[in-house]
Amino acid sequence: MKNILSQRASELKPSATLAISAKEKELKSQGIDVVGFGAGEPDFPTPAHIREAAKASLDRGETFYTPVGGTVELKKAVIRRFDEDYGLKYEPDHILVSCGAKHSLYNIFQAIIGPGDEVLIPAPYWVSYPEMVCLSGGKPVIVPAEEKNNFEPDPKLLESLISPNTKAIIINSPSNPTGIMYSRKLLEELAEIAEGHDLTVISDEIYDKLVYDNLTFTPFASLPGMHKRTVTVNGVSKTYAMTGLRIGYLATPIKEIVKAAGNIQSQSTSNPSNPAQAAAVQALIGPQDEVVRMRNIFENRRNLMTRLINEIDGISVPIPQGAFYTFVNTTALNGRDGIKNSTDFAQLLLDKYHVACVPGGPFGSEDHIRLSFATSDAVIEEGMRRIATACKDLG
Ligand SMILES: Cc1ncc(COP(=O)(O)O)c(C=O)c1O
Repeated sequence: MKNILSQRASELKPSATLAISAKEKELKSQGIDVVGFGAGEPDFPTPAHIREAAKASLDRGETFYTPVGGTVELKKAVIRRFDEDYGLKYEPDHILVSCGAKHSLYNIFQAIIGPGDEVLIPAPYWVSYPEMVCLSGGKPVIVPAEEKNNFEPDPKLLESLISPNTKAIIINSPSNPTGIMYSRKLLEELAEIAEGHDLTVISDEIYDKLVYDNLTFTPFASLPGMHKRTVTVNGVSKTYAMTGLRIGYLATPIKEIVKAAGNIQSQSTSNPSNPAQAAAVQALIGPQDEVVRMRNIFENRRNLMTRLINEIDGISVPIPQGAFYTFVNTTALNGRDGIKNSTDFAQLLLDKYHVACVPGGPFGSEDHIRLSFATSDAVIEEGMRRIATACKDLG
């Protein structure tokens, strides 16, 4: 059979992060003692009151369709969190609930991007942004950001890449993969550019509650003039350890986008799972102390992991201010024993030392590997021992 696949599907790259998690699981199932740093999800169980809410929903018989864009209760809960946390005001028709923030982003790109449209994506970027832009027929325009600038893109460079076809810019702070949180100054400069060039800003704020060092998170929509041009994406996966329940949402006063993204959802997945929505309501309006507890544990693990990495000769890491990733610079290892880039080093770590991490290439950097600290202190310590041995063996 010739050309069974569409061009779109043939060109699409699978998610590198999910691939590494699958590889890790496969090796473990073969009885190999793999230390896994691939995880893009909290290792904590979903808090009990949230699990209870899902069970209660099932027991109430909530196994039927809900409105495509989410239940009234969940939209209200989302609106309440934005208001209480950030003073941001939304109406129910500004919200679309989807099957995870990934799905929200997919719907947004499908709704606003078509052939010829360009989207500015600061690198390093989350693996799915460029692929999603391509899937919608658009062109990802990568804005490189350097480690020496704390992975913050240069606003002048970013502005120079704007063309008449540029429609949107995507911001992800705190970032996956770097964990870096943009300074308020940079956010304000980006706001000015968005205003000056009439761009829509897609702000992926999935890590807004995982911020360390007592820093304050600034939602992009809260900047002067930005509420009206920002589509904020968030969800319950990372904050409430609910990755498998698949609830994410977008919020924007640009009603055309909400409506179009909702239409796309109505013709593809329909509503997200009904009991998962009930669980998300409880997550958003119930007690928030588990969020603080998990955040504090992540902060301690970040301290441990970054300290141990920076003690190893050959690799180094800037301190992430948020999320649960370190983006480790491996360039000092290039040229040693045939290592050309971080992909080679990640492969060596997996094959010889049984340490799973994600190479930086799919995030837009061949100079780094991503290590997740959503794992226990013991795993972090063992993994760092193995990585130290690997670096030592490389000479
Ligand atoms: C930056 C970023 N955005 C969105 C998502 C998607 O999260 P979910 O679809 O689980 O809500 C992830 C998950 O890894 C992420 O890291």
